[in-house]
Amino acid sequence: MTIQPHPDRVIIFDTTLRDGEQCPGATLNVDEKLVIARQLARLGVDVIEAGFAIASSGDFEAVQRIAETVGTENGPIICSLARSVKADIEAAAKALKPAAHPRIHTFIATSDIHLKYKLKKTRQEVLDITSEMVAYAKSLCEDIEFSPEDAGRSDPEFLYQVLERAIAAGATTVNIPDTVGYTTPSEFGGLIRGIKENVPNIDQAIISVHGHNDLGLAVANFLEAVKNGARQLECTINGIGERAGNAALEELVMALHVRRQFFNPFFGRPADSEVPITNINTREIYKTSRLVSNLTGMLVQPNKAIVGANAFAHESGIHQDGVLKNKLTYEIMDAQSIGLNDNLIVLGKHSGRHAFQNRLQELGFDLSDDEINKAFVRFKDVADKKKEVTNWDIEAIVNDEIQQT
Ligand code: KIV
Ligand code: ZN
Repeated sequence: MTIQPHPDRVIIFDTTLRDGEQCPGATLNVDEKLVIARQLARLGVDVIEAGFAIASSGDFEAVQRIAETVGTENGPIICSLARSVKADIEAAAKALKPAAHPRIHTFIATSDIHLKYKLKKTRQEVLDITSEMVAYAKSLCEDIEFSPEDAGRSDPEFLYQVLERAIAAGATTVNIPDTVGYTTPSEFGGLIRGIKENVPNIDQAIISVHGHNDLGLAVANFLEAVKNGARQLECTINGIGERAGNAALEELVMALHVRRQFFNPFFGRPADSEVPITNINTREIYKTSRLVSNLTGMLVQPNKAIVGANAFAHESGIHQDGVLKNKLTYEIMDAQSIGLNDNLIVLGKHSGRHAFQNRLQELGFDLSDDEINKAFVRFKDVADKKKEVTNWDIEAIVNDEIQQT
């Protein structure tokens, strides 16, 4: 996949397996990461940030195995994070070697507060490290992404200089992180506009955004960024990630999909164009959400937009009456567009292997015949003791099987 500097669509960069996994309690083992990576590829994400190769031997192995198995010629770009230090960049390059389309994502902080207390470096030193480390990464990998960490609280004039250096040294994507979720939508949109107007070589790179949800504004900030020229969105399934999490993939994708008439003109298309704004197969959203929730143990709140249990449920009599007459009265999108099934099959002791296998697929599990057989024996055991075997039971059964192998 060759990405042009100004794609007429939005690149979806999924960081569930890196920033998402930084969420307290959400750690994943290598096998679990592989299962999620395969599902992310089916979902149609353009880039999978598979981990932080230098962080641990487990993370290195996860990046390497995802690069081998999911990073095929027709598969997504596989990426590893690396600080702007040689050892990190070398570990990332080594782990990514099997990928058909590898990307190194290197970063260094640019806000005065990070320079003074964390890095203990001057602005000049940060400028020089940026040039040197991006060039070093470029000598090992063609596709380089650079992030000025805490860009949201950085002096824009300094940010412009750092980005110019990064692009001159070979970065083809420059990612603007609102690391602490501090900015507001108009500020963040203005920051992206300022970058487009003031970084002389910005036309040689794609502008990406990365944002945290400390004030609950990450998705709104990203949509303003898209209006101002950002063409890559870094996000996670269910919005998991450090502290209050990252921008949620499902919310961004469905906002761009449902409101495409509003967003199309920002891509230079007629408002009624049906050309998709992302490459995401929205029908895979629900099962991906369930899979990530199950394997990370991070529950999805019932009123969560798009994937929460109540997102397509109608409780009040007036709403039920309206929806029965015409769905459009209270629904802005079809449940099926995110892969929810209208008809519910209740699994119990009379269910056969076919129904069980079907439910596994709906939940996003891609198991071998042998794994299905083992899980089916366990399922029958549980079904003998309960009236109904729920999705949670099935996920627990499969989870156990994956952890045992
Ligand atoms: O939040 C952040 O700044 C990050 C960077 C490493 C991109 O996760
Ligand atoms: Zn982050």
